[in-house]
Amino acid sequence: MKIVVAGKGGAGKTTVSGTIARALARAGNPVLALDADANPMLGVSLGVGFEKTDMLNSVRQALDAGDVEHEPTVEGMVENFGTDAPDGVRLVVASRIDNDSPGCQCCGVSPDQILRELEHEYRVVICDLEAGIGTVSRMAAGNADVVVVVANPTAKALEVARRAIEIAQDVAEVVVLANRVRSDEDLKAITDVVGDHELIVIPEDPVIAAADRDGVAPIDLDPESPGVAAIIKLADRLAGAPLPA
Ligand SMILES: Nc1ncnc2c1ncn2[C@@H]1O[C@H](COP(=O)(O)OP(=O)(O)O)[C@@H](O)[C@H]1O
Ligand SMILES: [Mg+2]
Repeated sequence: MKIVVAGKGGAGKTTVSGTIARALARAGNPVLALDADANPMLGVSLGVGFEKTDMLNSVRQALDAGDVEHEPTVEGMVENFGTDAPDGVRLVVASRIDNDSPGCQCCGVSPDQILRELEHEYRVVICDLEAGIGTVSRMAAGNADVVVVVANPTAKALEVARRAIEIAQDVAEVVVLANRVRSDEDLKAITDVVGDHELIVIPEDPVIAAADRDGVAPIDLDPESPGVAAIIKLADRLAGAPLPA
């Protein structure tokens, strides 16, 4: 199953991606977590710690600068641009490199290409996308099974969510998360925009904020806190969904 997580910057994509990845791995699925953000922080939400996350980021930057050997295959990227995260998740940083004529796989690779090529090895591939709708708008049908659109009760985040839903619904199943919901008014603001798509509510959760402050995975801090539990429930629902043939 290929899941991509989209939304405005700050909406909660990385928190959600990391927590879904851990929850699905705990449930026994081989999980590849792909960080496609230009500022890759998925490692922190997965629980590998800031230093290791930063180290992976540096490897990617060194590649950009020509200081690290390029990887001609996606499998090589998983091996050399990745690390093991708790519960057996494999984390790979595949953020975009600004290179007009890449000439090699690891620089020119797009998240949807990796999603396409790695499915045979991992039962679940989850990708934390760059903020905005760029990657979603370039995605072809079949490259992702589910697009999780993370929305917040703010006009700007809702506009990004609305556009992401509009594009994504043509290529995959869409699940909308109403994240950081503090009141009925918050929820209404989101339901007004997302219409009749499946909507999962993630409340504002101090445990998620505290996890980020301390650089640890929310699921390690308290899997039963309301926000974390809501994301784990979504992971269960995704795992229970009929898998594509
Ligand atoms: N449900 C929530 N409750 C409290 N804080 C949250 C919640 N979801 C996200 N956050 C906080 O919002 C900030 C942005 O989240 P992050 O996952 O990094 O967003 P993105 O990856 O979309 O930029 C982080 O500080 C995170 O801890
Ligand atoms: Mg992020």
